[in-house]
Amino acid sequence: MGCCCSSGSHWDASRIADGSLAGKRVLITGGSSGLGLEVAKLFVSKGATVLITSRSQQRLDAAARSIRAHARSGAEVETKPLDLSSMADVRDFASWYRREHSDKPLSVLVNNAGIMAVPSRRVTEDGFELQMATNYLGHFLLTAGLLPQLLATRGSRVVNLSSFLHASCQGKDSTGVLHFEEADPFHANGASGGPSHGEYSRWEQYHRTKMMAILFTREMQRRLEKAGRSGPDGLTCVSAHPGFSSTGLLGSTGMSAPVACIANTCVAQSASMGALPILYAAAEPSVCGGEYIGPLGANNRSGYPGPNKADARASDERSMEKLWEVSVAATGADYSAIGDEAVSPEAPAAAAAGARPS
Ligand SMILES: NC(=O)c1ccc[n+]([C@@H]2O[C@H](COP(=O)([O-])OP(=O)(O)OC[C@H]3O[C@@H](n4cnc5c(N)ncnc54)[C@H](OP(=O)(O)O)[C@@H]3O)[C@@H](O)[C@H]2O)c1
Repeated sequence: MGCCCSSGSHWDASRIADGSLAGKRVLITGGSSGLGLEVAKLFVSKGATVLITSRSQQRLDAAARSIRAHARSGAEVETKPLDLSSMADVRDFASWYRREHSDKPLSVLVNNAGIMAVPSRRVTEDGFELQMATNYLGHFLLTAGLLPQLLATRGSRVVNLSSFLHASCQGKDSTGVLHFEEADPFHANGASGGPSHGEYSRWEQYHRTKMMAILFTREMQRRLEKAGRSGPDGLTCVSAHPGFSSTGLLGSTGMSAPVACIANTCVAQSASMGALPILYAAAEPSVCGGEYIGPLGANNRSGYPGPNKADARASDERSMEKLWEVSVAATGADYSAIGDEAVSPEAPAAAAAGARPS
């Protein structure tokens, strides 16, 4: 992957000149709360128009009101419900977006929506484990659906949200990280024998989705470069993480509200600090394709953003390629614009039909 120099520490939002993002359109999944909400405020304060998505129109309306309070003149805030855990919803959303915004640029796609360590195994309508569908597969399919707009926009970027917890993913060797020896790594059924045999481990499942976010980023960047579609005028793919930031995420683990509040107050940094690596990944000119951006403070848990070092397994080319292959097969995502052969529409149905029962 081509590389370049990045700025040092103490990068904050003032590095992006006010008004410099005017005319840019930014789509942020999970924009109703936490980091998505905070980064939306930063984008509109620099002049960009944002489209935020989440499962609830009511939460989007409330978020839009608070984002508008930060907007420069000309910056607009749009909302549209989208459930990332439903592949049909993702497909419908992408079709709607291409139809309604066919003549408009898409400068940045922030694949941010997420849930963490959901207490019990839940299976989506497509037969996928819920964290896999929400955090990873939905975004993999969404990115393919928006590829025409992204490729038609000069200097566009895709930012995929990972976590420092990606490094806690089990497995020592390349494909062992993702347990590709299982019939399908996206289902994680209730069979005994541990995660490598498909048992649902709520934390391991989260760690895997965040490892996948980096592998997906790097494989997409590699494919963009091979297809001659990357570089300053093309599309760049970057991953980012917020360290540990105070948001609603702990709620999805089933942690009680008072304990989550103590952790958020005493240990986590603010959500506005956590949003800075996302803004950096999306707008800092020196960013390189495939980079992993996060806080530069102690253990990369807090502080101002810059390039971080991901776990070595996140650079494994065999894992990247294999993950891409199985993700296309599972979702039917069409990445033909960057060299992949389109997959027949039967593919996702076939994958769902092969899904294990809940
Ligand atoms: N906070 C941290 O310390 C931390 C650390 C590492 C990584 N991250 C990552 O940062 C990202 C944002 O999380 P956050 O901390 O800001 O948590 P958050 O406050 O709980 O926000 C999560 C967002 O995702 C949306 N969402 C959840 N399920 C969805 C679904 N099925 N379809 C569409 N949207 C859905 C939620 O919207 P609705 O509920 O309205 O649908 C909400 O807007 C996640 O990917 C997370 O893994 C966070």
